[in-house]
Amino acid sequence: MSAEPLRFAVIGHPVAHSLSPRMHAANFRALGLEATYGAVDVEPGAVAAALRRFAREGYRGINVTVPHKLEAAACMDRLDASATRAGAVNTVRFASDGTMTGFNTDMAGFARPLAVRGFPLAGARVLLLGAGGAARAVAAACLDAGCAALRVANRTPEKAAELAAGLADGRVSSSALAAAAAELAAGADWNLVVNCTTVGLRPDDPPVLAPDCFRAGQLVYDIIPCARETATCAAARAAGAETLGGLGMLAAQAAESFRIWTGREADLAALEAALR
Ligand code: ATR
Repeated sequence: MSAEPLRFAVIGHPVAHSLSPRMHAANFRALGLEATYGAVDVEPGAVAAALRRFAREGYRGINVTVPHKLEAAACMDRLDASATRAGAVNTVRFASDGTMTGFNTDMAGFARPLAVRGFPLAGARVLLLGAGGAARAVAAACLDAGCAALRVANRTPEKAAELAAGLADGRVSSSALAAAAAELAAGADWNLVVNCTTVGLRPDDPPVLAPDCFRAGQLVYDIIPCARETATCAAARAAGAETLGGLGMLAAQAAESFRIWTGREADLAALEAALR
């Protein structure tokens, strides 16, 4: 048995705000594992060189955050199906010979809190707000889990149409965010509304949809990873909807990375407690 601690890190630009080091350290402690997890700021354009250096130094795995998920995908030796489907890499696993396989934990991380809550994605009618990288992974997760219908609604409708076309699935439609809001206010029966826009990242952001869009019988899932309740969740809750914040997804993603790197199950309670 090696006495060397296992080494991991997250790369991003900036990366100082990342919650990953705190979460992973709590998991290592809970499992009694000798391991370290750092945060390394890497300049755009320098991702491949940084990853090769981590491989040489014997790191087991790296998480990749904004803005490096596409740059990382371009320099992998192999892409797992999750990375191909999500179109980006946020988890890198090094083999003992230093070769790199890219994974994406967005899909698994998104689905897990829904499963824990007992909300079936199979048969759900999903309204997805946003059309960026997060929306793409969430859309794929919903389709793969058997949702009945998926609407991609975005402030810039052309981007929603582009994402929908790329998914090439008869269950998918697209519209402007404003059009989806008008439909919701008129009683459209989307029973899962997912916020994949960046609205809510700042504490003073307004709800992504007007309060009259929300009602009992909906689950509103805001994937913004923060401990406070977002204005979107607060408005939804006030209107009688069920709500789910983004911390569960963040913890589930960390657990998924840990499983990819070590083959072991993480202590999910420790991961979640580290976020509070
Ligand atoms: P990520 O990779 O995290 O998904 P992104 O690719 O920057 O982030 O996407 C951000 C998403 O938030 C986009 O869908 C963006 O809408 P546009 O395509 O119209 O820019 C959405 N977004 C950002 N600010 C918004 C706002 N004030 N209102 C509505 N949507 C917003």
